[in-house]
Amino acid sequence: MKYRPWSQDAALVLLASLRDEMGPVLMALQLMQKEFGYVDKASIEIIANFFNTSRAEVHGVLTFYHDLRTTAPTTHEISICVAEACQAVGARVLVQEVKAKFGDETHDGYCFGNCALGPTVMVNGEIIGRATLEKIEQARR
Ligand code: FES
Repeated sequence: MKYRPWSQDAALVLLASLRDEMGPVLMALQLMQKEFGYVDKASIEIIANFFNTSRAEVHGVLTFYHDLRTTAPTTHEISICVAEACQAVGARVLVQEVKAKFGDETHDGYCFGNCALGPTVMVNGEIIGRATLEKIEQARR
């Protein structure tokens, strides 16, 4: 997945699209991450000012949601579902194998709605069912 480089001007353009939304802080943070791949910490003050709220509130929302990140993503992103159905078919073992091989690219994920074909993994936005280390290696290429 390709992300735009973060800039204050690009962030302000994104925020303008949320001007009339209710409860816009979470939506703003999600939009930043979708567009830039992460939420740059400079966004906290920009969002607070834009929506006339405190930096503490924005920071609180940012740190509450585990899917929001404050560092730029690595070249590849591997998210492994560790919900019950996938755990029952070896997701935890797969997590250990993938983390040992790819390290920081890997993080625990949530249910992708592909439970019947677990373990399920998302590699760079692509869902892989009945995932194995070999399938993940192929998807990274
Ligand atoms: S439990 Fe893993 S995709 Fe649903």
